[in-house]
Amino acid sequence: MILVLFGPPGAGKGTQGARIAETVGIPNVSTGAIFRGLAAAGTEVGTKALGYMKAGELVPDQIVVDLVRERIAQPDCEGGFLLDGFPRTIAQAEILDMMLGELGLSIDAVLNFDVAEDVLIERLSGRRTCITCGATYHVVAVPPKLDGKCDACGADLVQRADDMPESIRTRLREYAGKTAPVLGYYDAKGSLKSIDAVGSPEDVFASVTAIVQSLA
Ligand code: AP5
Repeated sequence: MILVLFGPPGAGKGTQGARIAETVGIPNVSTGAIFRGLAAAGTEVGTKALGYMKAGELVPDQIVVDLVRERIAQPDCEGGFLLDGFPRTIAQAEILDMMLGELGLSIDAVLNFDVAEDVLIERLSGRRTCITCGATYHVVAVPPKLDGKCDACGADLVQRADDMPESIRTRLREYAGKTAPVLGYYDAKGSLKSIDAVGSPEDVFASVTAIVQSLA
């Protein structure tokens, strides 16, 4: 199964992506998480991407496309995969279709997480991320058991550099200008499934599960 998780920054793609990937048994390919890992490892591509990410801007298409092409060619993606945060421009969507077409594959569904802007800002401002395993929390909605520490691995929780107010504003602008138009692209293809993602993580997961089961 090939799924695309779509939606603005803070819509809950990462939160749901981890659960969906585990339930369906496919790898979660998050371009943001891969770039953060490459940046932490000090690679050239990671360092280049980090500059754009900190500013809240999209990383150039060619860099992202090369990264995804390489990742989905890995053996663990043979049985399908979930894309979180890719594609984010019409050009990326077109190239993805081409890459999949060459492999005789196609997207099963694009799950669009629908959340109002004031809720997005609240979610991003309160997000805390584990410096070691990348697990995400929210100071109010999804608090860790022990303040400032990751439930999964015990490491420190920090605020992402791009979750600062100015960066959040830029990310929302980038989404509205460059990413939201991709919705029309997938709607025209009939693969778009919209989900009201304002309820609790459990409620949203129930909606996602119903859609995923209908595809099986
Ligand atoms: P990326 O890491 O993908 O960031 P994003 O898309 O901005 O998404 P977020 O991770 O901010 O939010 P999310 O939707 O995953 O929400 P989450 O589940 O964490 O990308 C970062 C950067 O990388 C981009 O800005 C860009 O520079 C670059 N990049 C990546 N892909 C690219 C591409 N294809 N092209 C170009 N550049 C690219 O939830 C948010 C918070 O809300 C958390 O605190 C969570 O606990 C909480 N929460 C989640 N669900 C709920 C709920 N139902 N109720 C209450 N709280 C909730």
